[in-house]
Amino acid sequence: MTRDPLSAAWRALQSRASEIHAVSLRALRDGDPARAERFSREACGLFLDFSRQRIDADGLRLLTGLADAAGLRARIDAMWRGDAINTTENRAVLHTALRIPSAVEPGPGGAEIGRQVLAERERMLAFARAVRTGTIRGSAGAAFTTVVNIGIGGSDLGPAMAIEALRPLTAGAPRVVCVSNVDGTDLANALEQADPARTLFIVASKTFTTQETLANARTARAWLAGALGEAAVPAHFAAVSTNAAAMDAFGVNPNYRFVMWDWVGGRYSLWSSIGVGVAIAAGPEAFLDLLSGAHAMDEHFRATPWEQNLPALMGLLGAWNIDCLGLPTLAVLPYDGRLRRFPAYLQQLDMESNGKSVALDGTPAAHATAPVVWGEPGNNAQHSFFQMLHQGTPRAALDFLVPARSSAGNPAQAELAIGNCLAQAEAFAYGWSFEQASAELASRKIPPERAELLARHKVHAGNRPVSIVAFERLDARTLGSLVALYEHKVFTQSVVWGINAFDQWGVELGKKMCEEVLPFVKDSAAVGVPPMLKPLLARLEAWRR
Ligand code: F6P
Repeated sequence: MTRDPLSAAWRALQSRASEIHAVSLRALRDGDPARAERFSREACGLFLDFSRQRIDADGLRLLTGLADAAGLRARIDAMWRGDAINTTENRAVLHTALRIPSAVEPGPGGAEIGRQVLAERERMLAFARAVRTGTIRGSAGAAFTTVVNIGIGGSDLGPAMAIEALRPLTAGAPRVVCVSNVDGTDLANALEQADPARTLFIVASKTFTTQETLANARTARAWLAGALGEAAVPAHFAAVSTNAAAMDAFGVNPNYRFVMWDWVGGRYSLWSSIGVGVAIAAGPEAFLDLLSGAHAMDEHFRATPWEQNLPALMGLLGAWNIDCLGLPTLAVLPYDGRLRRFPAYLQQLDMESNGKSVALDGTPAAHATAPVVWGEPGNNAQHSFFQMLHQGTPRAALDFLVPARSSAGNPAQAELAIGNCLAQAEAFAYGWSFEQASAELASRKIPPERAELLARHKVHAGNRPVSIVAFERLDARTLGSLVALYEHKVFTQSVVWGINAFDQWGVELGKKMCEEVLPFVKDSAAVGVPPMLKPLLARLEAWRR
């Protein structure tokens, strides 16, 4: 048997899990009147209630022991120092440097990185302000009313999610829409009501080589040049990238370009100039609030003992659910419609980061890794897939997100949302027993044989683990803290699993194969068509003729 502390910590957790399996959440609740207080924490405006997780004080102690055994503290320090912790790409990971307030120096990665970040942030926010207020205008002197962010993955999901979340702050700003898909439908929808003279495009691509983004950007360029002439293009195209040569080749106005750095991962890039669309839509001040909320969470994560540390706790509990309780999926259920894009955002953050099966040293990962993240606004989900979550055979861990104050200026309906959220959390955790169902049916004078049958159908087994993240209101600062909470949760998990959260080799194979397949899509009779693709390619081609 190996003596290394990490394996020992995992073994201790597995053995605790085999005991916990026999203990219901009802029993945990009934056995500890102070459980709700004992298993709740608050930081950076977020209240985390994890009392409905299948964990007890011993289990929690073992989980924080796992963080120590995995060297989480040292890994955080390495990230903050700017060590190349993204080992397969030999890159530092410094998205935390993007959220430093101007007063703090040196921040993560050192003083020089801090200077570059602050200088570029200032340029980007000045540009955003000028577009927002109509100081920067189109080629014919008209203020922009539509801004189209063209990007995909991290260059789309973060801005799209944040713009929707901060919608109350967008009054008076140009309409900012995000387009991503390669088939062109997003772009076609965005351009449907757009006036070329009043439309600004932002090509957001860290690499400026991404097929989807370039295809949409070329179509947009042709649309604009077709309406206003080639000379109008520079006044209508801005870009964010690390690739200056590609921006030159595309004809992006040098004054409308913003740089990012290779130490910003795509899915961690909302905080860089990739967020320019957010700053235009919600305003530069809101963007700064977003950064300050994330920065507060960074400081909390770095300085707080694991038992009180929100991201560390969420990460450890997530690993416990996946690896010890056998729950491979995580449903994320916001009870605020403005967070409707949050599950999609988290899918990339969590699954592109930790969807790995090889450890840092190249050996097979010893544990199951990233959860399958999915979700919908919680109240809608109640009327679609909650049935399965309550009574079906597949089981999931659940994260509920709920604001105290309405994002729609409607306190009465916010109360309904809170009530629904809390009722669901209770039902998932504590269920509804056969005895409870039978008693209810008996009180309604249902005949005993029928009641017996119905009661079996009405049983909710419960024991579905739920975390609730509550906050006062969905403002920019809170959103920043919330996103950073999940970023550091993901990092914590990568450390206890011993994997690299910052590369994405799994995305590359499909990109390469697409290059190989494309000529055959154009000509299904070409030499070299793979036999397995022949009939389908031929059919598609016939339909396209
Ligand atoms: O999906 C792979 C990926 O590389 C993501 O990590 C990234 O967010 C996305 O593509 C877009 O990349 P880029 O910003 O370079 O266009």
